[in-house]
Amino acid sequence: MKFQNTPIDSKIVEKKIHESGLTNFETATIREIVRLVNNIEEDSGNKFLRMEMGVPGLPAPEIGINAEIKALKSGVASQYPMIEGIKPLKKELKRFVKLFMDIDVDEQGCLPSVGSMQGSFATFLVANRSDHTREGTLFLDPGFPVHKQSCQVIGHEWETFDMYDYRGEKLRNKLDTILSQGKISSILYSNPNNPSWISLSEAELKIIGEMADKYDVIIIEDLAYFGMDFRKDYTVPGKAPFQPTVAKYTDNYVLLISSSKLFNYAGQRVGTIVISDYLYNRRYPDLKRYYKTDQFGYSMIYGSLYALSSGTTHSAQYGLAAMLKAVNEGEMNLTENVIEYGERAKKMKQIFIENGFNLVYDKDEDEDIADGFYFTFSYPGLNGNDLLEHLLYYGISAITLAVTNSTRIEGLRACVSQIGLDKMTLLDERLKQFNEDYQKQ
Ligand SMILES: Cc1ncc(COP(=O)(O)O)c(C=O)c1O
Repeated sequence: MKFQNTPIDSKIVEKKIHESGLTNFETATIREIVRLVNNIEEDSGNKFLRMEMGVPGLPAPEIGINAEIKALKSGVASQYPMIEGIKPLKKELKRFVKLFMDIDVDEQGCLPSVGSMQGSFATFLVANRSDHTREGTLFLDPGFPVHKQSCQVIGHEWETFDMYDYRGEKLRNKLDTILSQGKISSILYSNPNNPSWISLSEAELKIIGEMADKYDVIIIEDLAYFGMDFRKDYTVPGKAPFQPTVAKYTDNYVLLISSSKLFNYAGQRVGTIVISDYLYNRRYPDLKRYYKTDQFGYSMIYGSLYALSSGTTHSAQYGLAAMLKAVNEGEMNLTENVIEYGERAKKMKQIFIENGFNLVYDKDEDEDIADGFYFTFSYPGLNGNDLLEHLLYYGISAITLAVTNSTRIEGLRACVSQIGLDKMTLLDERLKQFNEDYQKQ
């Protein structure tokens, strides 16, 4: 395809792609795409419709910011925080999981982390070392590439499959086949899922829980997008429906609840880890190879988290505690900071479809998937690498699904967070021009 009269000067795009050294976008990381697009924007003076990175596009709540300021003014900056977390955060987190998930945990297993990313890293370091005969994590993909990077830098093995191919009861056989080989220590998935935005059903979570018990595997449930399946209203504290969770079906779990998207709090790098009472107290003799004790919870706090960062920023914990308290008490609506993403996704999907694109992951069994933070799309006749390259000339950026371990490598992931409702017309114009140019060639 010849790129003539495209919204972004084609010579600049070509030059910057060449300079980036990226020969195949299917292996390009999110941050590499970010850098490339920054460079094109800078040289061309044209702004992109940026859909490559999952950054919050809305402001952080005043409640959190004010609580942090107050904590800083009271002098916490000079004090090391306790690694297991400040008391108000532990208290509000325990309440939060009761009120919004209907699960009971002791405060001792409610911990802060430096973002959910540290939560998964810390958990890999303990869960994947609990049994010397096992090797690592099974990812129910597609998924967040940095989790595999975490396993890789620690030196843990990992396996993966695309769970879209094994929805419903099919998931049981697939898990049975892999877990029966005895090599898996932990299973990680995100729900709702980044990038596909599929949501696991109660039946699927039950299968995962049953398999965790059958094969004694630890489930790491990544709730980075807590409450964001907007087809259901999970926002009333203490009232069903609750955020679905594997915790209803097994005691072998660690939950990772991020504040980055739910509270637009990514910059403060504060997240949480919730360990079931059973797992917290469980003893794994093989942990003694790496930790002073064989107890899971103790190894998480005084082994793994101590070594990683010796705690989570003091003031950020106060900020998060205040936001959790506000939603627990119904003073702030759980999803009021993110609900607009659903509206954006709905409009964007429609614009993509009207301009010749297809949705890639589009169903939760027989129901349309929710509208939320991400969606996935493809264009007939183009693979993911070529589609991403083509769209760069039209001032649109995304990431390939290949980089998320999806089997649907013709697709790209779009994040809606930086595409405000005021940018929909521009998106439509650019996609229309792309579609017309492509059909003409
Ligand atoms: C599925 C998933 N897990 C974890 C994270 C990281 O969360 P945090 O910012 O809390 O480290 C992200 C961020 O995009 C994500 O998409």
